[in-house]
Amino acid sequence: MKILILNGSPKQNSSTLVLTWEFMKGVNENNEHQIESVNIVEKKINYCQGCLSCWIRQDGHCVIQDDMNGLLDRMAESDMIVWSFPLYEYGVPGPLKTLLDRTNPFLKMRMYSDGKRFFHDTVVDLPKKRMLLSVAVVSHILRITLHH
Ligand SMILES: Cc1cc2nc3c(=O)[nH]c(=O)nc-3n(C[C@H](O)[C@H](O)[C@H](O)COP(=O)(O)O)c2cc1C
Repeated sequence: MKILILNGSPKQNSSTLVLTWEFMKGVNENNEHQIESVNIVEKKINYCQGCLSCWIRQDGHCVIQDDMNGLLDRMAESDMIVWSFPLYEYGVPGPLKTLLDRTNPFLKMRMYSDGKRFFHDTVVDLPKKRMLLSVAVVSHILRITLHH
């Protein structure tokens, strides 16, 4: 599998990332996976400007010319995404939230319903990918693995 670790900690030496890599060593003990990581804070990712041009383009990319289109490609190509981040005020650190906002090009404007809920059509169906959340807080380490 192609596994992409997104390190959302703004700290230089993220404790969360250390734990994430230890976990990934176990995941990759047979050396069968290709794992790479990205430090989100080192990337130039501007705020989503809410223009929704991505819903007109429908090509999985954004009109803003910064590092996000490259990251969208890498996320789209990955079989599994590992979200590694510390809890900040019971949410995600700002740079990671900015990245999440900028994943809107993976959605299409058109929506459908299963009778209970509404869903967007997708260019890239991010929730269908395997995901691992690696979250560190002050005194607890939470590991939640979501499998599809
Ligand atoms: C601005 C800020 C907000 C934080 N908010 C929370 C929080 O809401 N809940 C919590 O348990 N820990 C919180 N913490 C503690 C971090 O989650 C904790 O220090 C974490 O282990 C740091 O991980 P890192 O080394 O990967 O950056 C906060 C830390 C900072 C700097």
